[in-house]
Amino acid sequence: MTEPEPLLPDDGAGGERAERRWATISVAILVLLVALATFAGLHLAAMPQSRVETVDPRRLHLAGEFIESNLGSAVEPDGSGTVRAIGQQYSFTPSCIIVPTGTRITFRATSADVVHGFLISGTNVNLMLVPGYVSILAARFDEPGERLMPCQEFCSVGHQGMWGRVRIIDKRAFARIAAAQRRPSCVE
Ligand code: CUA
Repeated sequence: MTEPEPLLPDDGAGGERAERRWATISVAILVLLVALATFAGLHLAAMPQSRVETVDPRRLHLAGEFIESNLGSAVEPDGSGTVRAIGQQYSFTPSCIIVPTGTRITFRATSADVVHGFLISGTNVNLMLVPGYVSILAARFDEPGERLMPCQEFCSVGHQGMWGRVRIIDKRAFARIAAAQRRPSCVE
């Protein structure tokens, strides 16, 4: 009967080589994660956001930027857009948001009661609306179309019925609507 071949050479060199290889891989994973976090942070894609703005959820409808007449899309002097919206049990105001293609859009949204979610399907817009805080995210939409905007944080019994819509339209058509309406929305 012959002795079975040892699985590892017994001089220790193979083990050391394997350790070195795994040490290199571990460091590479760390470097990759740090690079990804840096990239996400620089692109305002990181949650939670670094700049915190607060707002009194009990007074949203009385004064300030979230009064009803100021909600919807606004055109800024530099040509970019700002969308202001509120989530409340169990709807969004406005319930239909209209935005132009090929334009930088800054979403500014908050909640009037409990935590809600603000997600635009098929895009990377995904915010939590927390009462007392303004959630801010910049986005750009290149393809026109209609998107769903479901609340994606459980917010009590009416949660599954809390939906909005986002209509992305050609920027020239949007400019015509914005010329006629101070705060365009597609609420009918
Ligand atoms: Cu609002 Cu779920």
